[in-house]
Amino acid sequence: MLRLGNTVNAARILGFGSTQPEQVVTNDDLSKIMDTSDQWIRERVGIVERRFAAKDESAEDMAVVAGSNALADAGLEPSDVDTVILANCTSMVPIPNYAAPVADRIGIKGAAAFDLNAACAGFCYALGVAADLVRGGSSGRVLVIGAEKLTDVVDPVDRANAIIFADGAGAAVVGPSDEPGIGPVVWGSAGDLVDLIYMRDEKYIFQEGQSVFRWATTQIAPIALRALDAAGLQPSDVDVLVPHQANLRIVEAIAKRLRKAGAREDMVVADDIVHSGNTSSASIPMAIDHMRAAGRIRSGDVTLIVGFGAGLSYAGQVVICP
Ligand code: UT7
Repeated sequence: MLRLGNTVNAARILGFGSTQPEQVVTNDDLSKIMDTSDQWIRERVGIVERRFAAKDESAEDMAVVAGSNALADAGLEPSDVDTVILANCTSMVPIPNYAAPVADRIGIKGAAAFDLNAACAGFCYALGVAADLVRGGSSGRVLVIGAEKLTDVVDPVDRANAIIFADGAGAAVVGPSDEPGIGPVVWGSAGDLVDLIYMRDEKYIFQEGQSVFRWATTQIAPIALRALDAAGLQPSDVDVLVPHQANLRIVEAIAKRLRKAGAREDMVVADDIVHSGNTSSASIPMAIDHMRAAGRIRSGDVTLIVGFGAGLSYAGQVVICP
């Protein structure tokens, strides 16, 4: 009979980290180059400002910083990690992947390293994979990073997309634990709806905004509720809700559905999009990192995360914040 690896009962998140480019872009800045307004963007999307990367700043660069910050938060050295999963959907170069050079630049030598593309659901997909790698004994500790330079793939004067998307990276370290700190991932896809978000002429993102909006506001709250149920929890147990930061109106619609199902009025709801924009696979770990720094998430908080986007792909799970 074959021997199993070092299986452990449970995995948890040991630390979070993130980074954003320096350049802040306001709605007024955008209204100078396209037919839009600060009022329209605030009302329809909830964004006040976002960050755009410099020309010479790549998603890989941001991944290195976010990953290093997550390791520092966890109190770990690069040598404590043996696997790096990098969620990304904006890489312009398929070979090599981002994960291997990012691992090397962080100082994680010889790591198992791979990219994972589930668009804006990428972080939750990667976290689910990481938790299972740790539990199954294939990895000791896993660094999960979501890093995107969306400005590389957005037409800078397309008012449907240029006002939403932004750049940044977020990361989490996953390791073994006595108590479960990451619930089962509930994930899936609706590949029949793939035409709702895709790259046009292999250059720029196109999305049928209204259809994606309708899908997100009707289909994602039930996924979040299934993730809670899979973890053996009730809506009233949720301290913090962190949906992918796609549009503040979508976030609010998901929170409303959860409260209707019994979530508490004092449940903290992520609104990081207001100052960060939609950073795809980076948005959830970045929001959590910012909310922990601001004291809006405390250690031990039951945090429900759910990602969704192109594919159409979705994934959600419960995590206990470190
Ligand atoms: O992260 C990946 C998943 N993506 C999402 O979850 C995004 C989901 N979709 C959305 O967030 C929204 O659909 C958008 C933010 C993309 C668009 O907002 P909307 O409220 O659905 O706007 P709309 O496309 O229905 O357009 C409403 C009106 C239109 O004018 P008319 O035809 O009513 O006169 C648009 O031409 O607003 C106009 N419009 C704008 N006006 C000013 C569209 N974009 C803009 C703009 N500034 N940037």
